Amino acid sequence: MCGIVGCILKDEKAAPVLLDCVKKLEYRGYDSIGIATSSSKINIKKEKGKISEAEKKVGLSDLPGNMGIAHVRWATHGIPTRKNAHPHTDCTEKIAVVHNGIIENYNELKHQLIEEGHIFKSDTDTEVIPHLIEKYMSNGMDLESSVRNSLDQIHGSYALAVISTDEPEKIVGVRKESPLIVGKGEGKYFLASDVPAILKHTDNVIYLEDGEMVILDKSGVTVKNMLGEIIEKEIHIIEWTPDMAEKGGFDHFMIKEIHEQPGAVRDTLLESQDIEKIVSEFGDIERICFVACGTSYHASLIGKYLFESLMGLPTDVILASEFKYSAKAMNDKTLVIFISQSGETADTLKALRMAKKTSETLVVVNVLGSTATREAKHVIYTRAGPEIGVAATKTYVSQLTCIYILAAHMSNRLDLVDDLHKVPQYMSDVLANEEHIHNIAKKYKDVPDFFFIGRGLSYPTALEGALKLKEITYIHGEGYAAGELKHGPLALIDDGVPVVAVVPPGNSHDKTLSNVEEVRARGAHVISVGSQDDEILKSESHDLMGMDGEIDEIMSPISYIVPLQLFAYYISVEKGIDPDKPKNLAKCVTVE
Ligand code: F6R
Repeated sequence: MCGIVGCILKDEKAAPVLLDCVKKLEYRGYDSIGIATSSSKINIKKEKGKISEAEKKVGLSDLPGNMGIAHVRWATHGIPTRKNAHPHTDCTEKIAVVHNGIIENYNELKHQLIEEGHIFKSDTDTEVIPHLIEKYMSNGMDLESSVRNSLDQIHGSYALAVISTDEPEKIVGVRKESPLIVGKGEGKYFLASDVPAILKHTDNVIYLEDGEMVILDKSGVTVKNMLGEIIEKEIHIIEWTPDMAEKGGFDHFMIKEIHEQPGAVRDTLLESQDIEKIVSEFGDIERICFVACGTSYHASLIGKYLFESLMGLPTDVILASEFKYSAKAMNDKTLVIFISQSGETADTLKALRMAKKTSETLVVVNVLGSTATREAKHVIYTRAGPEIGVAATKTYVSQLTCIYILAAHMSNRLDLVDDLHKVPQYMSDVLANEEHIHNIAKKYKDVPDFFFIGRGLSYPTALEGALKLKEITYIHGEGYAAGELKHGPLALIDDGVPVVAVVPPGNSHDKTLSNVEEVRARGAHVISVGSQDDEILKSESHDLMGMDGEIDEIMSPISYIVPLQLFAYYISVEKGIDPDKPKNLAKCVTVE
């Protein structure tokens, strides 16, 4: 999982533009950065670490030439070092390649190429590509055909950008199972892993499909299939402004995105009519199966509670990476719903390809034109806008909004859609009071372990609160169904252990409160999320993150997650961690 960019400009130097573009992709990986430009030779600068650190060390934009390619890396093969940073070159240093994806048969190809005399400089799977291209070009083939022939030998996933000094005014890009888009500006042409990278330069975008190749040169952009035949592609006008992809005055993308959540819910509510239409197209459904990973999995769990309680429709939630073990239980009466903010998660795409063989499929996705949207039968868009912070926030509440609208239309409970319109205000109230949560975060920032508990619809909220804490503070947080604590984990509760309890008013309230009393009796520090008017909960809690007392249990998940996101965010900031780029993680996980 990495980010790639390529550009051809008229007279401007390419390196500063490439650097600016690739910075917008740092959410895809930040182990290392590299840029290659082509003038009379291939010029390369690359370095380990985040872009800002690398820039200070080696001055990345100081390269000649008005065309080139760039890369940010999230390591899969070969540890993050300068030598493993992209671009990678062939033996003659005339060809440079940036790659996002995995070459599954690289070991075999590498041995074969070494036997043929090629010398490798890195431990990456990617490096086989420039050597294969070199082999074909040295036999007299042009760059485009050499890339095509090389890819015939490669098994795996890729989005590639390739340059060669033998064809100095050309970039060849190609995709299979990794995202790649093309930007067509005025006399300047781009390719990139994602739209925010190029939005400052053009809003005219072409989405490439698997097996499509793009050739960028000074005269424009040509898209071809793998037989070399030209394909006409639609140009999409992107409505996101570059500002929407920037920090907008906040310290981090994550806090900006937390603040954008009321708007994200409002915008997603505009999808209600489209969702109603999709519901009318469903066949005969006897079972629903949600499939997702991480935060999207937690949104799916809320879907299960809704579908089962509103319709009595049997609903399962399966982790995408585990789906293949349940695939045989799907049939034409199962609706399989995939939840994915990126639409590019490898585990989810694999499961989608399997499920569509037997069942009707629906994806709920945030990224327009992403792979999942082209594979599923039905698509619902969450209108969260670009999410740059690695930890999902506004895409999560938008996913929940879609799931609620879907459940409302399927169960004919349209009053729920009306109730959803009140949610943005509940969220804004929490955001207006964020200093209170910041102060609670300061108290607990040095604690090593947390428990998060909730029942029913609040159980997924507890899981998501714990995940946010783990991801961006590196503190151990464990989410449990509140009633499950006594079956084992209670042994870990001791003096001062913090337990975050999600306790909205409603059916589960009294039982969760009993669980709160159980942990208090064993010395736990209780931090609760509940109604600000709940005097009993207040008396049982050391700290209360108060919510509007009007919020019903059924509507609680969308707004009740906000204080837990803020709690994790402020602990992260207090600990001096960059919440936008937690270690070992990346925004879009395109490996299985
Ligand atoms: C957590 C997070 C991840 C993603 C997961 C699935 O904050 O962002 O757990 O939710 O990797 O990603 P998508 O939704 O893009 O399929």
